[in-house]
Amino acid sequence: MLESNSSLTLATTAAAGAVVAVYYYGMKKSNNRRPPVVPYTIPWLGSAITLGKDPDAFFHNARCVVSRMQRTWLNQFSFREKYGDIFTVQAAGMRSTYVTSAAAISAIYRNSKSFVFQPSRLEFCVKIFDIPRSVIYDNDYLKESIFPMHHRILAPSNVAPMVDALIMHSVEGVKELSSKITGNQWNTTLEEFAHKPIYKAISASMVGRRFPAEKSYEHFLAFDDYFPLFAAGAPGLFVQKGIRARTQLIDMFEEYLGTPGWEEGASELITAMVDGARNESQPPWTDRELAAAIHSDFWAANGNMGWGFFWCINLMLHEPQSLAPLYEEVDAARDSWLQVHPKADLSGDSPTELVEFLNNASLPLITSTVSEALRVSSSSFSLRTVVEDGVTINGYPQFEFSKGDVLICQIRSVHLDQEKYGPDAAAFKPDRFLDSGIVTEGGSRKLPFFPFGGGVSQCEGRHFASKGCKFVFALFLLNFDIKLDPAYEAPSSGSALFDKTRIGAGILHPTKPTHILVSKRK
Ligand code: HEM
Ligand SMILES: *[C@@H]1O[C@H](CO)[C@@H](O)[C@H](O)[C@H]1NC(C)=O
Ligand SMILES: *[C@@H]1O[C@H](CO)[C@@H](O)[C@H](O)[C@H]1NC(C)=O
Ligand SMILES: *[C@@H]1O[C@H](CO)[C@@H](O)[C@H](O)[C@H]1NC(C)=O
Repeated sequence: MLESNSSLTLATTAAAGAVVAVYYYGMKKSNNRRPPVVPYTIPWLGSAITLGKDPDAFFHNARCVVSRMQRTWLNQFSFREKYGDIFTVQAAGMRSTYVTSAAAISAIYRNSKSFVFQPSRLEFCVKIFDIPRSVIYDNDYLKESIFPMHHRILAPSNVAPMVDALIMHSVEGVKELSSKITGNQWNTTLEEFAHKPIYKAISASMVGRRFPAEKSYEHFLAFDDYFPLFAAGAPGLFVQKGIRARTQLIDMFEEYLGTPGWEEGASELITAMVDGARNESQPPWTDRELAAAIHSDFWAANGNMGWGFFWCINLMLHEPQSLAPLYEEVDAARDSWLQVHPKADLSGDSPTELVEFLNNASLPLITSTVSEALRVSSSSFSLRTVVEDGVTINGYPQFEFSKGDVLICQIRSVHLDQEKYGPDAAAFKPDRFLDSGIVTEGGSRKLPFFPFGGGVSQCEGRHFASKGCKFVFALFLLNFDIKLDPAYEAPSSGSALFDKTRIGAGILHPTKPTHILVSKRK
């Protein structure tokens, strides 16, 4: 999959080169209250590639790909050093303004009247998830009911049933994994061992067990692989495989909605949306429309959280001490719980007792590790649309924005900012968020921490995601000894682990599989 994507990137890079060469020279001078414009040239890579014969399609393709390439290029800090916190990249007739400092991004998040997320969210529903335009724009049910419903159900005070369900389903996942360790060691990959099981657990905690999560996994991976191209607006020609995978997933959700008893074990997030859209919305939504909406929620939950969990384990395995300090912490928490509750059964045979233990255990290092893993692995473009003319960002009076401008808050450059995080900002330091003294789910308040975006539109799933990663991580630590498989060449570590072609699309994916050896603990 990765392979086909990188040859795709290469092909389209060449195509884009041709278009930019023309457009760069035709670029207009920017007005002086605009952020500096980065002159942006793309090297001509030759014309070895035949793209569609139609010149219009050719242009459109290239234009979309340019935006994807900007993402890759922006990983370099040189733009910021040279042009400051806020700058515009103009290429192939498109302008995108990037915001790269904690001060400017925080100011944008605080001004939620002028800088809003909703237009991007609605457009993504159409462009990426194929929810019909009519349902998104001509029907108030989504904006007036479904969005507030998400907000309410995922709030910290209401999300516990979903988190508890996640633990229960993860306990089953742990049992299934244990049954695969037949000798004293299981030779597998971290993808198979961690990503797939948490995918199944997240899925079951959202849509219940009637949805065939296992069968959907390959389609999900294929769709997600194309996510950055969908987000960049790539036309069908480039994303055929992604469209096929999306259709399969929507088919599966539609079939699920037609299965008697589908709602058994499904979260309120899904049941409330379906009930309301079927009998409160005017006109009612069809099952096909609902299936597309469920798929978008399903992606929101699985797309980032599964890889976030994966990185918690992966990055620790690449540390000199590996998982040892975390085993120590979770064992100590278990032992002190057993002292107070001598009859407690934490083996997994009684999931409710495990749920109670996990909800009460003090696991500061694991909590810090989760935040730190999200800090170094996340690369989201947090989009905000300017909704009135003449707006400025507090602290940056020199720049003025107009209605319709889209600002791209590049949170990765904040997370890797040495002024904020020190000279070792790029390093994974599991205890980093312990040092600050305030360890909260989702990081410390003293350091800018935006894996979930920020302000009123920050990720609504963040409580479920950070609690969920922490609890499932603790559960895995209680049950398994995990180490890197030494039979594989020295595994790369640090930033080489991350596939940078997904810059801007959320938690980064790994560049290659992580081979591990697993045994049961005790
Ligand atoms: C590690 C896991 C996750 C990460 C890194 C993540 C990241 C993000 C980011 C960056 C945004 C955009 C927010 C902004 O621009 O301010 C977002 C939005 C959103 N996420 Fe997540 N997310 C995660 C897990 C989840 C989960 C588990 C769910 C659902 C259960 C979820 C549901 C949503 C929703 C509904 C929004 C739209 C919020 C709004 O428009 O107000 N996310 N997420
Ligand atoms: C909507 O209809 C479903 C049956 O399709 C029903 O179970 C549910 O209670 C109804 N919800 C409301 C709010 O009327
Ligand atoms: C432990 O967690 C449960 C929820 O699972 C909660 O009801 C209980 O109050 C907690 N106990 C303590 C001591 O925090
Ligand atoms: C795990 O399996 C792979 C191939 O299946 C093999 O190359 C590797 O040596 C194995 N590792 C161990 C420790 O058995």
